[in-house]
Amino acid sequence: MNRYVVPLSVLGTAVGGAVLLKDYVGGGVCPSKATIPGKTVIVTGANTGIGKHTALELAKRGGNIILACRDMEKCEAAAKDIRGETLNHRVSARHLDLSSLKSIREFAKKIIAEEERVDILVNNAAVMRCPHWSTEDGFEMQFGVNYLGHFLLTNLLLDKLKASAPSRIINLSSLAHVVGHIDFDDLNWEQKKYDTKAAYCQSKLAVVLFTKELSRRLQGTGVTANALHPGVARTELGRHTAMHKSSLSSVTLGPIFWLLVKSPQLAAQPSTYLAVAKELEGVSGKYFSGLKEQTPAPEAEDEAVARRLWDESARLVGLNMPPGSSVGGQPLAK
Ligand SMILES: NC(=O)c1ccc[n+]([C@@H]2O[C@H](COP(=O)([O-])OP(=O)(O)OC[C@H]3O[C@@H](n4cnc5c(N)ncnc54)[C@H](OP(=O)(O)O)[C@@H]3O)[C@@H](O)[C@H]2O)c1
Repeated sequence: MNRYVVPLSVLGTAVGGAVLLKDYVGGGVCPSKATIPGKTVIVTGANTGIGKHTALELAKRGGNIILACRDMEKCEAAAKDIRGETLNHRVSARHLDLSSLKSIREFAKKIIAEEERVDILVNNAAVMRCPHWSTEDGFEMQFGVNYLGHFLLTNLLLDKLKASAPSRIINLSSLAHVVGHIDFDDLNWEQKKYDTKAAYCQSKLAVVLFTKELSRRLQGTGVTANALHPGVARTELGRHTAMHKSSLSSVTLGPIFWLLVKSPQLAAQPSTYLAVAKELEGVSGKYFSGLKEQTPAPEAEDEAVARRLWDESARLVGLNMPPGSSVGGQPLAK
């Protein structure tokens, strides 16, 4: 027997196994073939990663896509890429900085004035494990951008979404929410030592609580709200983490990471599915992991926590102030 047969077959099995494992971890593609001609979609943080691929998928399906990003150069470039790839010319770039209540109010004001309808809002943008930074209004950056910014944006666009019903809100959370905790005594990390990981987890738990409370408040309006974990994907999200910065850990952990993470195209499938699938019409207040509905962490299902977080958030962002106001409610001193 050829002495190479055994090692080659072991290698073949290992490679085949790795490919199968990667497919399994990657999850599936959106099973719905639904198209969305005439529908207006907003995707936040759409210049890269999962947001860009969600915008691309929805542009392929014929929607009028608005990329809402903080860096207009990157935003215009992404819109151009998507127009080129899909030949859908109704893909545009707009400025939205979720770390500024003023920017969010200005963005919403323009959308309300200039767009006839908003059918799908994908609250996708996020920052993960950044240093102890603050937003323009003094909120801890991860809580401010990932959660509070989207809380205000969604509320400002609610009348438009209601007028366009049936319409859908899709909030990107993360599996990380399961180890999150809402610390009402120090939401903004002013008293305790800053923990960049715990701050991300708190922000993603807040997103699920917000989704559930919003869905309860939207009952009977034809507007649905669902949250999702897209899976672990190869994107720029880890830009502030040690692994991303260290070439040694990139080299040693890189192959394992490659095996266990999705491409951004695959990670955009759950958002696409929640945005278009006919079978999800009327489904609201749910948490999806990939394409499957799942039960979130117990704290995410606590209605009293959700109500309290809503009230506190409304106060922080000045929800009851008229659209177009240039300041938030009660900015936190830093
Ligand atoms: N990738 C994963 O493994 C994973 C896992 C679980 C959940 N998620 C969630 O999936 C979503 C997409 O993440 P991703 O992996 O695609 O990350 P990404 O590649 O880092 O993209 C994040 C996007 O958010 C934007 N953003 C950040 N701060 C912003 C601000 N102040 N205003 C407006 N936009 C802002 C970024 O803009 P710039 O490029 O200008 O910074 C970028 O477009 C996030 O909600 C994330 O938490 C991802």
